[in-house]
Amino acid sequence: MNRNLILAVCSILAMSCNNAKDAHSQTDDTAKVLKEHYESYFPIGVAVSPRALKTDEASFVIKHFSSITAENAMKMGPLHPKQNEYYWKDADSIVAFAKRNNIKLRGHALVWHQQTPSWFFTDKNGNTVSKEVLMQRIKDHITTVVTRYKDDIYAWDVVNEAIADAKDTIYRSSKFYQICGEDFIAKAFEWAHAADPDAILFYNDYNEIDPVKRSKIISMIRKLRANGIPVHAVGLQAHWALNEPTKDQLDKTLSDFAMLGLPLQITELDISVYPKEHNSRERKAADFDTTYSATKEKAQSRQYRMVFDLFRKYKKNITGVTFWNISDRHSWLDNFPVRGRKDYPLLFDKNLKPKSSYKAVVHFENGK
Ligand code: G3I
Repeated sequence: MNRNLILAVCSILAMSCNNAKDAHSQTDDTAKVLKEHYESYFPIGVAVSPRALKTDEASFVIKHFSSITAENAMKMGPLHPKQNEYYWKDADSIVAFAKRNNIKLRGHALVWHQQTPSWFFTDKNGNTVSKEVLMQRIKDHITTVVTRYKDDIYAWDVVNEAIADAKDTIYRSSKFYQICGEDFIAKAFEWAHAADPDAILFYNDYNEIDPVKRSKIISMIRKLRANGIPVHAVGLQAHWALNEPTKDQLDKTLSDFAMLGLPLQITELDISVYPKEHNSRERKAADFDTTYSATKEKAQSRQYRMVFDLFRKYKKNITGVTFWNISDRHSWLDNFPVRGRKDYPLLFDKNLKPKSSYKAVVHFENGK
């Protein structure tokens, strides 16, 4: 066989080997889906709406996630719009989807000051009700909802955002607090536990990286548990941004919560591509530049890599990480803090394609 023919055969063999390797490496990269990359760490979840589960996002949720949370359908307003009227259709459709696809389901949220219908707080004459009346209404709501989903929902955000952001105040001055004082918090957990003794009951809050707020949350949970109240776990919402948290802030946050000795879950993760703001505001000229630039994409994937490096570091404490929406197709951040300003806070783009943030989350050395 002459020399040229040997070289030609070798180059063909080399190309076929490379193609096989590429195919294999591509298979490696694409064979695993998000939840599989983390199956030895914690379930990966996502917030969903009944509408999304009727689109191409349904199969995408089944493919990548092993847990779901109803973004809105199980809140007090959507579920219980009038005192003697429940609206179960949307929540039931999410429960049915979870059961049909063997996906874990988190309940969100039994008591929250937002999306609470005004009837909870007023009598038929429009006067503010007494503590006894409101407590009974909360008890009836929790008992009815938790009993209905007793075998379907493994964990509930029982009380959401009861701690104040203001540094010199412990409890948020919600209508629940104004009428009942802090007692509604403990009773909510007791009523949820009575309705479903097997459910894991979470206190859920945001701005957990603020050391003062974190300290108030931790003190409240310690006090509740010292009084025998069934607070089983803590939800950290994790609505973050390119500029916060820093690695040290998040490490200290997770370390402080881990000291509670309770399961932690990241319950509403998203990383906005705009500087973090805590209050809604009018749109300004600069807000009309909503380009998802390469610079923003690179900064976001760095931030996602950092937070997941720390989530894996605390895998003994973290029992779930849930993203707050499926893809950049839709996010509550498209309307907060600036209504109509498109954000890109998640791992997948509007066509459900993985972004560089996805690669930053799934490419890590096993065991680290
Ligand atoms: O469903 C109605 C629709 O019928 C009506 O036409 C429309 C008019 O504005 O409103 C629709 O309800 C909206 C609902 O989302 C469903 O889209 C509410 O106005 C809107 O306020 C509500 O926003 C939700 C927000 O909570 C307030 O409840 C966001 O989608 C949801 O992502 C957000 O999630 C919260 C968590 O539950 C708790 N932690 C903070 C997080 C972000 O605020």
